[in-house]
Amino acid sequence: MKPFLSVPLAVLALAFAENTLGYHERNASSSTAIASTIDLETGATCACRKLNSSYSEYTLFPDSANYTAQATNYWDIRADLHPACIFLPTSAYQFPGSNNIEGGVLLASDNMRNYTVNGDTISVTPGMTWYDVYVALEPYGRVAIGGRLKTIGVPGLTLIGGVHYFLNKYGFAMDNVVQYEVILGNGTMVLASATSHPDLFWALKGGANNFGIVTKFTLQTYAMPHISTTMQVFGEKDVYEFIKASCDLVHASNDASIAAGSVLTITYNITAGIVSPILLGVQEGISSPPSRFANFTAIPGDTKIHNVTTSKQWAENLDTPKQMFRVLFGHHSMYPDTDTLYSMYETWKAALNQIADVQGLNPTFVLNLTPASAASVGKTNGIGNTWDLPVEPLIWWQLSTEWVKAEDSSRIELWTQQLVESLHAQNQRNGLAREFIYMGDAGEWQNPFVGFPAKNVQRMKDIREAYDPSGTFSKLNWGGFKLGD
Ligand SMILES: *[C@@H]1O[C@H](CO)[C@@H](O)[C@H](O)[C@H]1NC(C)=O
Ligand SMILES: *[C@@H]1O[C@H](CO)[C@@H](O)[C@H](O)[C@H]1NC(C)=O
Ligand SMILES: *[C@@H]1O[C@H](CO)[C@@H](O)[C@H](O)[C@H]1NC(C)=O
Ligand SMILES: *[C@@H]1O[C@H](CO)[C@@H](O)[C@H](O)[C@H]1NC(C)=O
Ligand SMILES: *[C@@H]1O[C@H](CO)[C@@H](O)[C@H](O)[C@H]1NC(C)=O
Ligand SMILES: *[C@@H]1O[C@H](CO)[C@@H](O)[C@H](O)[C@H]1NC(C)=O
Ligand SMILES: *[C@@H]1O[C@H](CO)[C@@H](O)[C@H](O)[C@H]1NC(C)=O
Ligand SMILES: *[C@@H]1O[C@H](CO)[C@@H](O)[C@H](O)[C@H]1NC(C)=O
Repeated sequence: MKPFLSVPLAVLALAFAENTLGYHERNASSSTAIASTIDLETGATCACRKLNSSYSEYTLFPDSANYTAQATNYWDIRADLHPACIFLPTSAYQFPGSNNIEGGVLLASDNMRNYTVNGDTISVTPGMTWYDVYVALEPYGRVAIGGRLKTIGVPGLTLIGGVHYFLNKYGFAMDNVVQYEVILGNGTMVLASATSHPDLFWALKGGANNFGIVTKFTLQTYAMPHISTTMQVFGEKDVYEFIKASCDLVHASNDASIAAGSVLTITYNITAGIVSPILLGVQEGISSPPSRFANFTAIPGDTKIHNVTTSKQWAENLDTPKQMFRVLFGHHSMYPDTDTLYSMYETWKAALNQIADVQGLNPTFVLNLTPASAASVGKTNGIGNTWDLPVEPLIWWQLSTEWVKAEDSSRIELWTQQLVESLHAQNQRNGLAREFIYMGDAGEWQNPFVGFPAKNVQRMKDIREAYDPSGTFSKLNWGGFKLGD
């Protein structure tokens, strides 16, 4: 087959639909500002024409039903834009996707859904979701370290680092990639692994979409035929105990002899006046209820459902519907402290009164636990990662806010940004704040790279210069979080 790079990447203004919770589209006017230096309209028209002349069956234009389906294939309505055309390659040989693009070319990976299981690894192409991966591995009684919810895609989550339940034992998704197949900006394909292009291999571990397009991920897998799960819903009176159990858990999880982790959320339905702390807990093995969550299980609660099941079965029930709402995240990191987190929760709950009239308001206070042992994995596997987190327990606290109408967007954005930054400023004063920002939970105004060690950012820039000297993934593909100059 003719390589995709018969269409020079240089004329494309690109976005990659990566189908992930992790990436948000930057807004259309900021895209246009960058695009004005490269004449987006002429470039995109030219690229679309060339793609259509070579691959008309894989190129979609705005007048088709499939175009609309692809351009709105996001869970966040804010990601819906109007690309000039959408290209759906079926293999890397046509190549030289979270982001959509206004007026440019949207490269969607949906046609690249394939995998190969080899002993203790699985190779997957970027059209796969994590649920697809868990389905593929179930017959082998194995799991990979990927997304916690059903609709999350492989490429976005893996390139930004990736939080899984079992991070206390196996680290982040990036720590479990043994090889990346990458298309560079000039169309050359390279394999990046511990022994081939090890500098690029390191940079892809947390460096996001700054270096190339990954067309295949080879992932370590682990034997785990069963998992023990628990879903527990509490009431407002339990919030303090819930936060305390969370702080205890991030310390206890440092014992990596048991792989276990959680999704911890506090939702507030302001119309109904109902606060609901919720635990989704998952532990390797069949002991039920899972022992790691004993401090939660001990709090009397309305709903407690324990089960022994498989990773595929568990993920299947955790679907995130697409196109239901607009959603904005914002987050910072801190050393766990129950009283401080409780007071942050109270501040958040009170601040919600300022936006209580917003239609479809659905706010959540999220506690993501990153035990010290999760940071150790990258330090002891001989490879490392771009984060190089200090070995200490952390809570990545996050505000996630959903709403319905576009006219409320700027209000929600301002409210979130002010609240997140003022809570973080308080933590800076009391010494609990840490500067690491996880791309998957960050708001558009945040720059995760400022939280990476400065020497790692410099090394990533040097690696970018070596592999993408013409700046394809800085100047032409501007969505997602960029390393900067
Ligand atoms: C997009 O960004 C520009 C510049 O940062 C800002 O003025 C505008 O309000 C934003 N638009 C939306 C819809 O967020
Ligand atoms: C794309 O190519 C097909 C087949 O050659 C052609 O019929 C169609 O008009 C082209 N579409 C555009 C928008 O150029
Ligand atoms: C459009 O979508 C239909 C249904 O999903 C599919 O069968 C068809 O191949 C798609 N066409 C293109 C050009 O992608
Ligand atoms: C899927 O992967 C298998 C095994 O590597 C390969 O034989 C097959 O050609 C691939 N299919 C596609 C459509 O790429
Ligand atoms: C449960 O709580 C106790 C008392 O706070 C603490 O010592 C222990 O580590 C906690 N266990 C877990 C698994 O979180
Ligand atoms: C909040 O509660 C009201 C009343 O029970 C319900 O109609 C609404 O759907 C709830 N909102 C959310 C976001 O769950
Ligand atoms: C419990 O696990 C079994 C086996 O995987 C599954 O069929 C069932 O749906 C699960 N029940 C719940 C409530 O998740
Ligand atoms: C493509 O870029 C890589 C990295 O800069 C370089 O090693 C390679 O020689 C280039 N290939 C071509 C065909 O220009």
